[in-house]
Amino acid sequence: MNEKSSTFYVTTPIYYVNDKPHIGHAYTTIIADIFARYHRKIKGKENVFFLTGTDEHGSKVAESAKSHNLSPQKFTDNISEEYRKLWKNLDISYDEFFRTTDWRHEKIVQDYLQQLYDNGYIYKAKYKGLYCVGCEKFLSFDEIINDACIYHPNTALVEQEEENYFFKLKDFSLLVLDEIKKQSYKILPPEREKEILSKINGGINDISISRSGVSWGIPLPWDSSQTVYVWVDALLNYYSATKIYPNREKFWPPSLHLMAKDILWFHALVWESLLLANKIELPKIIFAHGFFTINGQKMSKSLGNIIDPNTLIEEYGSDATKYLLISSFSFGNDGDISLEKFKGKYNSDLANGIGNLVARVAKLCETSNFDNTNNTPVNNFSAEVVKWMNQYKPDEAIKSIWKLIADFDRDIGDDKPWKLESDKLKIKLHSYVGRILIIASDLEPFLPKTSDIISKIFNQKKIRKPDSIFPRK
Ligand code: MSP
Repeated sequence: MNEKSSTFYVTTPIYYVNDKPHIGHAYTTIIADIFARYHRKIKGKENVFFLTGTDEHGSKVAESAKSHNLSPQKFTDNISEEYRKLWKNLDISYDEFFRTTDWRHEKIVQDYLQQLYDNGYIYKAKYKGLYCVGCEKFLSFDEIINDACIYHPNTALVEQEEENYFFKLKDFSLLVLDEIKKQSYKILPPEREKEILSKINGGINDISISRSGVSWGIPLPWDSSQTVYVWVDALLNYYSATKIYPNREKFWPPSLHLMAKDILWFHALVWESLLLANKIELPKIIFAHGFFTINGQKMSKSLGNIIDPNTLIEEYGSDATKYLLISSFSFGNDGDISLEKFKGKYNSDLANGIGNLVARVAKLCETSNFDNTNNTPVNNFSAEVVKWMNQYKPDEAIKSIWKLIADFDRDIGDDKPWKLESDKLKIKLHSYVGRILIIASDLEPFLPKTSDIISKIFNQKKIRKPDSIFPRK
């Protein structure tokens, strides 16, 4: 298959609808959007499938609905809609929005589990353990510090004993180990793959795939007194999506599953085991990025420091919000963000950076009445952008574009075009327009609206200086 005809299927986690979206959810979705837009430009729109959605079953969601005095269905409808609205405001170009309460998915999950059951990979047993409703899972020893979950220190752990159905994860984990070693799928960044390998080598227990006390879920097909464990239901969304939406089957297997490190375990081992058990081809790349804090603190309701992405969009616009989030820390590592830093970055990189450059070049063209009939359209990416995107480093790709911007600004200062005589100035401006169109094209996956505005300005026959594209704050 050549690069043009091959398909690209990128996913975000499907987010829990127990609460409104925050900038953590926006972060992963922005990155997925970048990959989707990047590949659409290379492979063509019809060869890219970008999936996001909401994870709507389970006790976490049911408890939230109850505390709002709403039925789980009404509550999930409301929050799921908040997500769709946010993605619209943020100009996220997803192709399908998945909801686990879609009856077509429920049917696929039941058929999938029935097949596992019929093949003898599921058995009934008693289980006792400490359950974290925040994670929606029983915790292992290394996930408990000071009697609390490492990810949800404020959520009380519940000791539960249940008779559940178990999936033979232990057996499949050995097969998964082989697949990782054979590199049939990759966990990135490499240090995360090492973590997963050592965890598997440390020994795996089978996993409970049903719950008896949770009614807000998909009933098990062979025992309707139990519902499907919310994580199994959720992981299968990536598969169901290729079955329930028209013309999506060709996208299997997924090219890139994006998430943060908190849920890597489910994606790197449980998901692959479920697929191997039903003889389904594995996804290609599982990428777990880091977790960011706000002013050094974990985002949490109790600390009251949760940032609603809509506030950022209102203040800065969707492109700037994307830029500020992706360029604040390195993709793959943990990081810290702050609203104060955002303001500084907005002014230095957007208002004074790209905004100023566009104004400067457009003004030079306007004052010298430059005839722009002969510019060459640009529809590809600079080699640096390609290099970094191939290495799954969108933050480095964007940095390389800002390097082009800085170099360009410096060259204008060195060239002093305002001192050139008319013929030389024409040649210079022609090259400037070429350079800025390259920047516009490179920016397309990252700052799509800005890219479009710049292309329009510099494709006019008579270039006019526009209103400031990123006014100073
Ligand atoms: N519903 C599950 C996922 C099922 S996927 C089959 C879930 N949902 S979640 O709403 O809790 O979303 C977790 C994801 O949100 C993280 O993996 C990450 O993508 C994103 N983030 C949430 N907070 C974040 C940060 N503070 N920093 C970076 N990413 C963050 O887990």
